[in-house]
Amino acid sequence: MNRVLLVGCGHMGSALLNEWMNLKSHSLAVVDPLSYSYLKKKYYKKKIRFFEKIPNQNEIKKFDVIIFAIKPQIAKKVLNDYCNFEFKKNILIVSIIAGKKISFFKKNIKNAMQIVRVMPNMPALIGEGVSCLVSSKSTSKNNKKTINNLFLKVGKTIWLKNETQIDKATAISGSGPGYVFTLIDAFEKASQQIGFPKNITREMVLYTILGSVKLMENTKKEPSDLADSIAVKGGTTEAGIKILQKNKPHKMMYNTFLAAYKRASKLGKTND
Ligand SMILES: NC(=O)c1ccc[n+]([C@@H]2O[C@H](COP(=O)([O-])OP(=O)(O)OC[C@H]3O[C@@H](n4cnc5c(N)ncnc54)[C@H](OP(=O)(O)O)[C@@H]3O)[C@@H](O)[C@H]2O)c1
Repeated sequence: MNRVLLVGCGHMGSALLNEWMNLKSHSLAVVDPLSYSYLKKKYYKKKIRFFEKIPNQNEIKKFDVIIFAIKPQIAKKVLNDYCNFEFKKNILIVSIIAGKKISFFKKNIKNAMQIVRVMPNMPALIGEGVSCLVSSKSTSKNNKKTINNLFLKVGKTIWLKNETQIDKATAISGSGPGYVFTLIDAFEKASQQIGFPKNITREMVLYTILGSVKLMENTKKEPSDLADSIAVKGGTTEAGIKILQKNKPHKMMYNTFLAAYKRASKLGKTND
């Protein structure tokens, strides 16, 4: 059985915990000082150990995997608490922290050789996430399998070739649900503006989006071909798409990804 320590249990940490808490193959422990009482109460029926303070050397040595799920801005300060520990021989250090490089962990945690960066996203909360992963050269096949299996529990996993790709994935799939919800909000607000009440709007918009995604998945057709097949000449969809295209949605998405990518790179450099 793998012993896993989750450091930080905020939005993303708790989304992961939500899907991992019933796993028989792993034993879970969590350290999150300010949320300790709340978490202990919330998960009191589950076999999860909660630490109010950083575990001591004896306890740390029992873990096979340590996952850092804290904000990039405090990463250096938190890692400082872990830097001099003696870990289990094949310890795997995992980070879901945006921007922080493998070299940052090597520099700030003595004895950290096997390191995997993972970029999950929020639908992990319901087991429908996408997690992009990249590993240090010294990470063993066994450790890669262990972490892949854990993240398979919260959705799909995609292994990337290098760290530049993971910063780019942060901007696309990591932040992606935020853009999708913003677009859904725009769909909904505009439907209300045109005259529908909120409850009807929610159903129309949600099922239009769900149905379109499933159609694309089933037919395996390109989205532009599917759009063309609906936008018949002189029809309503064509009239709507003309306005959308005038507003350059492709350029807008590219600029959105670029801004998030730049931010991920900048966050990676804070306190380096
Ligand atoms: N949210 C997303 O959709 C998403 C997606 C992909 C990746 N990520 C990455 O995941 C990381 C966490 O993001 P988040 O949204 O979950 O942030 P968050 O909600 O702020 O969670 C971070 C948690 O860490 C706790 N913490 C602070 N100091 C700690 C310490 N010394 N030891 C243990 N825990 C400590 C915080 O407690 P306090 O709040 O009490 O300080 C908080 O509960 C970030 O690096 C982010 O880049 C997030």
